[in-house]
Amino acid sequence: MMSGQSGDAGAQAAADQQAREQALVEQVVASFETAEDPRLKQMMQALTRHLHAFLREVRLTEGEWASAIEFLTAAGHITDDKRQEFILLSDVLGASMQTIAINNEAYANATEATVLGPFFVEGSPGIPLGGDISFGAAGQPCWVEGTVTGTDGAPVPGARIEVWEADEDGFYDVQYDDDRVAARGHLVADDNGHYRFWAITPTPYPIPHDGPVGALLASVGRSPMRASHLHFDVRAGGKRTLITHIFVRGDELLTRDAVFGVKESLIHDFVEHPAGTPAPDGRDLADRAWSSVRFDIVLAPAHSAGPGVASTEGASE
Ligand code: BEZ
Ligand code: FE
Repeated sequence: MMSGQSGDAGAQAAADQQAREQALVEQVVASFETAEDPRLKQMMQALTRHLHAFLREVRLTEGEWASAIEFLTAAGHITDDKRQEFILLSDVLGASMQTIAINNEAYANATEATVLGPFFVEGSPGIPLGGDISFGAAGQPCWVEGTVTGTDGAPVPGARIEVWEADEDGFYDVQYDDDRVAARGHLVADDNGHYRFWAITPTPYPIPHDGPVGALLASVGRSPMRASHLHFDVRAGGKRTLITHIFVRGDELLTRDAVFGVKESLIHDFVEHPAGTPAPDGRDLADRAWSSVRFDIVLAPAHSAGPGVASTEGASE
């Protein structure tokens, strides 16, 4: 309602205001008609409509607009080779998970995908089947095993499995200043699609929250904590690449993961084994307790919508 006016004059002013706002939307939408790329045109015109609908719905003040620009500027300033605040923003808004949902269509019993996160790095060490990806990272030993199959149940021989995780202090190796490589590695499933390796039992940790995204979470009373998880990237010839995690059943953060990454199908039983319980591969655990988990991975065929397809037949070292 326009202030200081009433009756017919007020109604006319409100109609004029609506028309003025709508005319601007249409003018901006029309400005993209010249785009040669039809996809770019579609996206810019839809973005214009949705952005203006938001501005008009919340009746954005000029002060709020300035705060939003300051927020984006701060996100830019803190972003560098190691820190990507815009991906964090996308994550906490659920935009990353929505994009993953759109691009990894449900396909039969194929394992669900979830968020990649900022801590994947190329060039992780290769380990043999039964090897250890912890490379000295602090944490309780965890035995991980399973099979890689297609949705028809046939084993996928030679799938390349990449895994990475935070240590028990809640940090990935790349968050330390000493160039360590730990709690990450890759291995190749055997001819029957079986795989097994040692990792560390996942523990909860916060997403980086010392920047504008952390301030945003704090100001709305949201926690930056992620539910405990172990990351997987699984690739095999002819199959849809799977980027996912497994989560720990019973973790109290499962229902309030900061980036909305938890899917019921990805929650697994991590079985605790007291000190002295023999390890599956006979490893000497020096009287430490350990855990174990089974994760059977089902890959969709390459022709189903997904993030990409391995170009070679599975394994690569
Ligand atoms: C992660 O799981 O590593 C992660 C995902 C999204 C934001 C920050 C971290
Ligand atoms: Fe993570």
